[in-house]
Amino acid sequence: MESFAGKAVLITGGASGIGFAAAQAFAAAGADVAIADIDRQGGESAAISLSNTYFFQADLTSGSETTAMFTEAEAALGKIDILINNAGIQFIAPIEEFPLEQWQRIMDMMVTAPFLLTRAALPGMYQRNWGRIINVGSAHSLIASAYKSAYVTAKHGLLGLTRVTALEAATHGVTCNCVCPSYVRTPLVDKQIAAQAKTHNIPEDEVVEKIMTAESPIHRLLEPQEIADAMLYLCSQSAAGITGSAFTIDCGWSAH
Ligand SMILES: NC(=O)c1ccc[n+]([C@@H]2O[C@H](COP(=O)([O-])OP(=O)(O)OC[C@H]3O[C@@H](n4cnc5c(N)ncnc54)[C@H](O)[C@@H]3O)[C@@H](O)[C@H]2O)c1
Repeated sequence: MESFAGKAVLITGGASGIGFAAAQAFAAAGADVAIADIDRQGGESAAISLSNTYFFQADLTSGSETTAMFTEAEAALGKIDILINNAGIQFIAPIEEFPLEQWQRIMDMMVTAPFLLTRAALPGMYQRNWGRIINVGSAHSLIASAYKSAYVTAKHGLLGLTRVTALEAATHGVTCNCVCPSYVRTPLVDKQIAAQAKTHNIPEDEVVEKIMTAESPIHRLLEPQEIADAMLYLCSQSAAGITGSAFTIDCGWSAH
């Protein structure tokens, strides 16, 4: 495994699931890690469990909290070399019943916060002529599912931001990629199982097989570690020529 000693990584939503797996992976590879999350208790215990890892609390639906958190994390670590825009939530409802407030919350956290953090991180990366930005998209950056209008729209938007960032940053030693996983075994998915069972009117134990992995030729949930490993690769020297990609890790879902 490539060493990331001397690199500073900021991971949003790092208290849980995929973000925590990324924090574990980069800390194990020697990086200094900043976890940003709304969950103080989870974030603090995540940081304590890892070496060279610090926690910064922020509600990423707030633009002012997001930019203040970046300033604080950059000051504490001295720089941000790798930005991982990972924090996300889900809300499931048919469009005609979808609450505007949930729509806005998802856009603020999953589109506007990544834009604000990218805008804040690029000048330092350009100055050092090296940087990596990983946006955690989804198979839903490429395809749609019913009842997830805000999430699918936000994840498609995040892929758009990825591509624009890749074009603008290309001559500055900075790459930007969007990892696009299918369902990963995390608390976010656990919450969806109950919601999907209600919406589709089927028992909870049938949701993984009949709804979540039905369209994937490989019928299983991914593990968070598999996504973290892809992030390590995309930040490695070997991946310096990969930018603007929709990097699918989706058990073949989008191959249809
Ligand atoms: N789990 C999956 O199946 C899956 C699949 C594809 C993409 N993703 C994406 O991966 C990312 C991580 O998801 P996960 O499954 O690890 O979820 P998770 O629920 O385990 O973790 C999400 C983290 O985001 C934090 N968070 C929530 N609201 C926040 C806010 N307002 N401000 C700051 N932090 C906030 C939570 O506290 C939590 O620590 C999300 O963007 C999600 O859309 C997940």
